[in-house]
Amino acid sequence: MRRSTQRQSAIVRLASEQDLDRLSLIDQAIFTDEPYPFFVLRQLFEVHGSRFLVLDHSGELAGYSLLATAPDHQQCWVLGLGVVAHARGLGHGRRLMEESIDLLTADRVAELRLSVEPGNEIAIKLYRSLGFSVLGHRPSYFGPGDDRLIMQLTLGG
Ligand SMILES: CC(C)(COP(=O)(O)OP(=O)(O)OC[C@H]1O[C@@H](n2cnc3c(N)ncnc32)[C@H](O)[C@@H]1OP(=O)(O)O)[C@@H](O)C(=O)NCCC(=O)NCCS
Repeated sequence: MRRSTQRQSAIVRLASEQDLDRLSLIDQAIFTDEPYPFFVLRQLFEVHGSRFLVLDHSGELAGYSLLATAPDHQQCWVLGLGVVAHARGLGHGRRLMEESIDLLTADRVAELRLSVEPGNEIAIKLYRSLGFSVLGHRPSYFGPGDDRLIMQLTLGG
């Protein structure tokens, strides 16, 4: 299939309970070192399902984005963004982020934050192109030696 056709035939939709098994499999494939345990994914779905988007390519899941909004709706965090390796570079990651941001804008959330590995140049480039800036470098953010950059996008609220 040509790349442009592949891009057009993929849709972004809300995750459903029936997606959870396949979501867990693609999460393991994308985040090989630290995938979400299935029970965590299930609970994230229960709490944040209205902000859990999947990329559906003719019935195959090829990526997802997951956001969590604070109760006061001021701040939201990206808890997950990933596209399976064979579908990268086709605009899907950007689309997942843009559609996530659209949901938050409609919710009048004031700012969106995320953490990213300092060496993840592809993701950082994507986030910068969407208007995110670096708030700071947090040593050992996810435990000893596991540093992260914290990035933020102001949405206006
Ligand atoms: C980060 C990720 C989601 C991007 O998804 P993608 O579908 O490949 O990205 P897109 O095709 O939408 O590209 C979006 C932007 O990313 C950057 N990018 C994508 N591929 C790139 C590459 N090979 N080299 C450099 N920059 C690249 C570009 O800025 C691109 O914008 P452009 O097309 O206008 O140049 C994907 O690489 C991924 O799943 N990585 C593993 C998981 C991960 O790191 N998630 C982020 C955790 S914070």
